[in-house]
Amino acid sequence: MSTPIGVFDSGLGGLTVMRSLIDLVPEEPIVYFGDTGRFPYGPKPAEEVLRYAIEIGDLLVDRGARLLVVACNSAAAAALDALQDRLPVPVVGVIEPGVRAARRATRNGRIGVIGTIGTVASGAYRRVAEDLAGDVELTCVACPGFVEFVEAGDVDSEQVHVLAERLLAPLLAADVDTLVLGCTHYPLLARTIGDVMGREVVLVSSADETAFAVRELLGVERVGAEPPACASPAPSPAPSPAPHRFLTSGDVMTFRHLGARFLGPEVEEVEAWSWS
Ligand code: DGL
Repeated sequence: MSTPIGVFDSGLGGLTVMRSLIDLVPEEPIVYFGDTGRFPYGPKPAEEVLRYAIEIGDLLVDRGARLLVVACNSAAAAALDALQDRLPVPVVGVIEPGVRAARRATRNGRIGVIGTIGTVASGAYRRVAEDLAGDVELTCVACPGFVEFVEAGDVDSEQVHVLAERLLAPLLAADVDTLVLGCTHYPLLARTIGDVMGREVVLVSSADETAFAVRELLGVERVGAEPPACASPAPSPAPSPAPHRFLTSGDVMTFRHLGARFLGPEVEEVEAWSWS
């Protein structure tokens, strides 16, 4: 069996990226770390998030990860370069894939980005957009409170809706036609966000784009491969699902319960991790 892909987030949000990875490369085992004991990252100073990201990167490489996915925008904004410099394995973030997808989706050139306070304040989306999509107009809005609702298992209550109406108002005013969900927790709020923004606005989750980037890196891109020259080759057996591992620095039962709800039946055993 191959060594795993390491995936981490401040909590449960990175499971949206893990879902896309499982769907796209089902034969790859994944070790997931949710730092729920130190969540949320968004309001914390960048240096603190950088320190956490380095600790988790080291841990996952120790656990055999042959590639690391920073499935957290706040951590990617604070630590992607440092992790790429430090670790002996390829490190993939979620910001660049999201911008690429939004650039393809927009028709009027006005793109919204929502994220945590840390992600928006870092200017990471603006920098990447200047490099990859210099011709678009970006409106970035921080959405404090969204992540806390998700971690509490509340994705569609009246309270979330009211908060979304208030926080997303500047994006409606800016007439964006595409909205990047610049926090991996936000796809879990897609229904609420979509209700507020309206049907015409395309919601972009970086999860799928990130999974495509990972597949390319793994060199398992098979689409378009030439069929063998011999006639009627036997169909190859479907790959069996890979075993996955989950670690959390927070409450194991909560992680297992909400993890199974947000990711699916893949969440079984969850290992408790203590930073002390
Ligand atoms: N999923 C993390 C992100 O993408 C949430 C950050 C937080 O813990 O505040 O930014």
